[in-house]
Amino acid sequence: MNEISGEKIGEYVDSASYMELRRRYVSSGVPLEHPITFVRGANALLYDESGRAYIDLTSGIGVATLGHVNEELVREAVKQLQRLWHICIHVANYPPYLDLARRLSEVAPMRFEKSAAFFNSGAEAVENSVKIARQWTGRKTIIAFDGAFHGRTYMALTLTGKYKPYKVGFDPFVPGVEHVPYPYCYRCPFHREECTADAEPELSYIRRLAKVRLNPGDVAAIIVEPIQGEAGFIVPPKGFLEGLREIADELGALLIVDEVQTGLCRTGRMFAFQHWNIEPDIVVVGKALANGLPISGVVGRADVLRNIKPGSIGGTFTGNPVSAAVALKVLEILERDELCSRALRLGRIMEKRLEELYERFEVVGDVRGLGVMRAMELVSDKGSRRPAAKLASRVVDESRRRGLLLIKAGIYSNVIRFHPPLTIEEELLERAMDILEASLKASLKA
Ligand SMILES: Cc1ncc(COP(=O)(O)O)c(C=O)c1O
Repeated sequence: MNEISGEKIGEYVDSASYMELRRRYVSSGVPLEHPITFVRGANALLYDESGRAYIDLTSGIGVATLGHVNEELVREAVKQLQRLWHICIHVANYPPYLDLARRLSEVAPMRFEKSAAFFNSGAEAVENSVKIARQWTGRKTIIAFDGAFHGRTYMALTLTGKYKPYKVGFDPFVPGVEHVPYPYCYRCPFHREECTADAEPELSYIRRLAKVRLNPGDVAAIIVEPIQGEAGFIVPPKGFLEGLREIADELGALLIVDEVQTGLCRTGRMFAFQHWNIEPDIVVVGKALANGLPISGVVGRADVLRNIKPGSIGGTFTGNPVSAAVALKVLEILERDELCSRALRLGRIMEKRLEELYERFEVVGDVRGLGVMRAMELVSDKGSRRPAAKLASRVVDESRRRGLLLIKAGIYSNVIRFHPPLTIEEELLERAMDILEASLKASLKA
């Protein structure tokens, strides 16, 4: 048993009764990565029902950016709960919604005038970004990417560019969506040895599609993840996002950037698109916005957002006062504590440790990412690059047994992704990397 700050970290004890409850009363459609039950969290640690601690490098899939049960956020939530916790923004104003709309518009770095709207989940915000683009342009076609993940509601699912497991049995999907290749340099869709220099074939593909197969005057928007998340933290090459901006302008379409997973300092910038030289028309945010309370949003061109027909977007719970109040505090803390810079510092620690694994292990095919959003792609060997999904599962399971919580990603489910809270202590992050290394070694012997 390991000891961190006097707390037990280690061997998973089966919580059979919780698993039985889950089996009997929860739909099998809801996925489960770890057969474990957490009852408490504190910053980057999670505790199961027996009191054992686990280092959390998932942040609940990129959400608990300020750590679990952040005390400042708890105070903010309680304050708002005691004032007002629902009225519905369709019925009347309440300050947290309005303040958050102003604050998010200020934080979004596009130089034009901006407005915002709030929703409950990433999928819902994506869905609404597309409704806004269609209504504003009067056009129907949306260009999305292979490998993309945008959520599980019907439009978000239609935009999602991976069939299994998300889309199985759910056809037919929403009409008007065209998928195009994303520049996944390690597995180049155009069979280039490397594609880090530019994204010319991917961009030409879209231009050709728009000219030959589509009515170019029908394209309402291009929607893109600036770094593909569920597909395995795929960082696009230089010029890709700039090229999409140019194409959107040529077509008179909007460029929507889905920052649900990448946004709010995770990559070392407030928004991941800031690593490149573009200004999207609409940015979609979710996940980390209120550190786990449900809220998502779109922020973008005021001329677009202020001309959407009243009653055509919104919802009963959208921009809930408690979530909005906490989101305001999250934005304040990200800036006050310079957490984008911290993401870069923590990211360098992770990059160094992952590069070492790449040098030492034949099965580590690629390591990549920006800020703390890092991933390791496992293969049978560096030469063949054959995806090693079972090995990735073994490493995740072995890590859990040793007290480290990880999740996978990737088109081939062979990528281990790292999503630490930005508030994790550096020693704990190093300790997590030690456990990862030991688990990789043990999994190779198994
Ligand atoms: C890029 C991206 N967009 C949208 C979503 C959907 O968000 P939600 O699960 O909150 O609906 C996700 C979730 O993982 C995501 O990564």
